[in-house]
Amino acid sequence: MRIDIITVLPELLKSPFEASILKRAIDKGLVDVYFHNLRDYTDNSYKQVDDYQFGGGAGMVMMIEPIDKCITELKSQRNYDEVIYMTPDGKTLNQKISNGLSLLDNIIILCGHYKGVDQRVRDLFITKEISIGDYVLSGGELGAAVLCDTIIRLLPGVLNNETSALTDSFQDGLLAPPVYTRPAEYKGLKVPEVLLSGNFGKIEQWREEKAQERTEQLRPDLLP
Ligand code: ADE
Repeated sequence: MRIDIITVLPELLKSPFEASILKRAIDKGLVDVYFHNLRDYTDNSYKQVDDYQFGGGAGMVMMIEPIDKCITELKSQRNYDEVIYMTPDGKTLNQKISNGLSLLDNIIILCGHYKGVDQRVRDLFITKEISIGDYVLSGGELGAAVLCDTIIRLLPGVLNNETSALTDSFQDGLLAPPVYTRPAEYKGLKVPEVLLSGNFGKIEQWREEKAQERTEQLRPDLLP
């Protein structure tokens, strides 16, 4: 998979890709991530990417020209399955969206800033608009990092058996069951007996019950 991220702040975005699972995925060649600084696609000597809103109002708007240049250049080199815009008024990210995106070959992610992009960018280029939650970030970069993390960990070969994404919360529509490690007893708090029993049928059944119970308690909205 290849991910191209268009941003005015590449330095804000890079560090999540330089450690742990995302770094390993990149080093193993399972995903290629490219950062494109929008200012490199400006004609003016100030490298200006935003301007005042027509009609007045507080806040600047990201201009269409540099975004058009960047996306058009990328699209001239390969086909893209989606051009995603990170914005608080997009569809709220969930596991199903990430699962779907993880199956694609090439995606572009555009990070919004200021009051957002000129509406014509959305009309012309954007195929999917994603929000990471009902709150406003200073820009789309942190949202793009979250989105990429959720996608990349699903790519075949990125996680090993122990960290398999199949047992994550949400993968079966439920929250994950509680987990324990050594010691078997800590300050009088004991690990549930069944987990020490070696009976994998019973353990699996216990985990399913706990996942159901936890979801009913904490996220009843996830249940049908
Ligand atoms: N940009 C600003 N707020 C955002 C959000 N909640 N999700 C994605 N991108 C954003």
